[in-house]
Amino acid sequence: MSYIRLVDVTKQFGKVTAVDKLNLEIEKGECFSMLGPSGCGKTTTLRMVAGFEDLSDGEVYVGDNLLSSPKKKYYLPPEKRNFGMVFQAFAVWPHLSVYENVAFPLRIRNVEAAEIDKRTTEALRATNLLKEANNSPANLSGGGKQRVALARALAINPDVMLLDEPLSSLDPHLREEMRFEIKDLQKKYGFSIMYVTHDQSEAMALSDRILVMKLGVVQQIDTPFNVYNNPANKFVFSFIGLSNFLNVNAANGKAFIAGSEVEIAGALAPKAEILGADGLTIATRPSEISFVSEGTPDSLRGVVTRKAFLGEIIDYQVKFGDQEIRVQKGRRDIGPEVGENCSVAFSRHFWYTGEE
Ligand SMILES: Nc1ncnc2c1ncn2[C@@H]1O[C@H](COP(=O)(O)OP(=O)(O)OP(=O)(O)O)[C@@H](O)[C@H]1O
Ligand SMILES: [Mg+2]
Repeated sequence: MSYIRLVDVTKQFGKVTAVDKLNLEIEKGECFSMLGPSGCGKTTTLRMVAGFEDLSDGEVYVGDNLLSSPKKKYYLPPEKRNFGMVFQAFAVWPHLSVYENVAFPLRIRNVEAAEIDKRTTEALRATNLLKEANNSPANLSGGGKQRVALARALAINPDVMLLDEPLSSLDPHLREEMRFEIKDLQKKYGFSIMYVTHDQSEAMALSDRILVMKLGVVQQIDTPFNVYNNPANKFVFSFIGLSNFLNVNAANGKAFIAGSEVEIAGALAPKAEILGADGLTIATRPSEISFVSEGTPDSLRGVVTRKAFLGEIIDYQVKFGDQEIRVQKGRRDIGPEVGENCSVAFSRHFWYTGEE
């Protein structure tokens, strides 16, 4: 049974449609992430679920309870929604101790003193902050402050955690550590998570499902595996993971990489019905390309124009006329050198037509 339900949720800021008829169901205990370029409506969506932003249209439910509905003129204020929230800025209060920072939301909810102490202590224990309880959060590291924000959200025993880029101010190492800690806390307490991030690997690592959004419109809602491997459209393909696109022209019933004489033939060729379509594009991932010997069926002949050693992988740029792709191979994979001609084969590819 779905736990959080958004029905045709829409938010209009003047002429800007920040969120356009969003329909979404999140399960109890599910970790659900929202990904998309800056300005696509992620924060606005979270704020509407939290109750900080009213809806222009649509409804938000948790379980069977209505939280917001402009049509029914119904709106439950944020403090009556049992949601924990952590936002990008640390938002800890330096003039209060770590303990008081965490206890604060319980105090404003008029929770009884003994219960406040119990829940605050437990949240501090869960986030490894007990020994810092009496210190000022100002003296903590970035990760420490982030833990305080998490503990504060945990203390109310939330049904749902709304996390808006909660780790983006941390260095990469700490981020990785904290994302596993969030996952552990979720396992322990069973809350649902709505997670907003710019970091795809963070979304992949944490989420049961991912929503990819563009200009307020849902592009795909799926498992991390499917969003990566079976993207719904060209936008999703380009947004998730590394991607290569080559424009393709038709001539005499054959397909050519535009601006070159390289023919895309055999098993790689586009179906007849899309040959010559506007915006015809072949798409691949750099990791799904290999160097093969000249004349290998369905391979494409190009020239290596860049080769960069990135540690575990070697990153090549291969040009066909004025278009190029990236190819990534393991560091032990012996590939061609800059300036050499090469043939590449795609182990997987997609065809797209039109703008997006
Ligand atoms: N209070 C507001 N008044 C007017 N427009 C707003 C307001 N809040 C957001 N917007 C607009 O709504 C759209 C969505 O903004 P939102 O903050 O939800 O994007 P986002 O996906 O969270 O972006 P980012 O990744 O940069 O945080 C943007 O076009 C933004 O300019
Ligand atoms: Mg945002």
